[in-house]
Amino acid sequence: KILILDFGSQVTQLIARRVRESGVYCEIIPFNADVARMQAFAPKGIILSGGPASVAEEGSPRAPQWVFEAGVPVMGICYGQMTMCVQLGGEAKGAEIREFGAAYVDVVADCALFEGVWSVGAREKVWMSHGDHISAPPPGFRTVAVSEGAPYALIANDERRFYGAMFHPEVVHTPHGAQLIRNFTHKVCGCSGNWTMAGFRQAEIAKIRAQVGSGQVICGLSGGVDSSVAAALIHEAIGDQLTCIFVDHGLLRAGEAEEVVRVFRDQFNIKLIHRDASDLFLGQLAGVTDPEQKRKIIGKLFIDVFDEESQKLGGAEFLAQGTLYPDVIESVSAIGGPSVTIKSHHNVGGLPAYMKLKLVEPLRELFKDEVRALGRELGLPETIVGRHPFPGPGLAIRVLGEVTREKVAVLQKADAIYLEEIRAAGLYDAIWQAFAVLLPVKSVGVMGDGRTYDNVCALRAVTSTDGMTAEVYPYDVGFLTRVAGRIVNEVRGINRVTYDITSKPPGTIEWE
Ligand code: XMP
Repeated sequence: KILILDFGSQVTQLIARRVRESGVYCEIIPFNADVARMQAFAPKGIILSGGPASVAEEGSPRAPQWVFEAGVPVMGICYGQMTMCVQLGGEAKGAEIREFGAAYVDVVADCALFEGVWSVGAREKVWMSHGDHISAPPPGFRTVAVSEGAPYALIANDERRFYGAMFHPEVVHTPHGAQLIRNFTHKVCGCSGNWTMAGFRQAEIAKIRAQVGSGQVICGLSGGVDSSVAAALIHEAIGDQLTCIFVDHGLLRAGEAEEVVRVFRDQFNIKLIHRDASDLFLGQLAGVTDPEQKRKIIGKLFIDVFDEESQKLGGAEFLAQGTLYPDVIESVSAIGGPSVTIKSHHNVGGLPAYMKLKLVEPLRELFKDEVRALGRELGLPETIVGRHPFPGPGLAIRVLGEVTREKVAVLQKADAIYLEEIRAAGLYDAIWQAFAVLLPVKSVGVMGDGRTYDNVCALRAVTSTDGMTAEVYPYDVGFLTRVAGRIVNEVRGINRVTYDITSKPPGTIEWE
């Protein structure tokens, strides 16, 4: 396994992704964590991430000296290269030319990282993002790649197996970057690359059994990817000691509640309590138009209902949650005050501490795409594992303004047509999230010989990698007019369809 020391780069997680894609387990730990913790991890190699600081600044972060004395290979990326350089006796300073974006490096000598990818004399595309640069490499290092702005684009100390890259091999804009990282983990560190989802499944099942013993586990199932995969995995480990509680707020997409019941109860034979609480949720949402208010009501009710069902059940000692690795990575960028709340995300599954249950979190070490791979491994249907993200408050924040059962039904129909067309056109997996929104706006239309006066529906589709920023999906107009035609013809209550062409920022993905 590989240890990644984080210096606060925006893309540290991508290093971890590339390492894991090479079949090697890794973890991210802040550069200033206890050395004892790093030692206990016993890595076969260490990667130092990039970061926003400048090595020239007084008090800028340094790797613990242990890193260079542990006798394992080290790869420094960007800031990681800089700090490695100065800690080992080289020199770095602020560069006159700041390089940012695509750049080219010339490969001037061979090195172990290049096997099968780069060769001497080649000019290779990379992604640079740095202000500092090395002015004198540390003793024992040779230069293997150069660029105009970074004469020491890649340096190597073959004897100690230390490498320093000025560019970012972890981002997709460095076309051969993944292979360079793979060479580091496999060829240099000697990792075997046998960390697979099949292996993870077996190891995790053993861990769950050891943790739970003969205890009872409850799990909030929402039909989303994370809770579904967690439930399927835990069920495989402990069978009927697991009970899933599906709090159905009546605000899911068309047919999804039925699918959850069919897949988990009928197909997987999981003990499932399906609590139809739609009357309760819709009742409390009556007359409420403020988005934050809706979220609060739904969040609180969800917990109440879940609590009630688990009390009825009684005897559970453990609560299963689909917590993922990005939720638990400790962040280095604790600098800066609290950020502004744009939307108070209510996540189904987040339960209060007073429930006093011990947590079972079998996905804590996984990234989202790994969770999907595990779900496939466990035999969950593609409609669940490949599903677009869906907000906890569901359609309540896609029916703008007041939510009623009738409006939810209208939106479900429009949304189902939209998704059906997206799937039929083979576009589903190219899109991060696509959905319909029902606007509290009426407009005039004409159908046959009659005048209509009905609601407007907006379609949304974005691409994104993490939901933090998003681009509008560029459909062709023919596709959009086909969807609009079907919705207006087939859904009573909608007579006009628009396409939302706002990216995030300044828009948000959801409308509320
Ligand atoms: P926004 O609308 O903030 O959405 O651009 C970013 C991502 O978060 C999802 N989202 C939510 N998820 N509870 C959730 O669990 C919420 O209240 C919530 N609001 C937005 C949204 O679907 C998108 O994936």
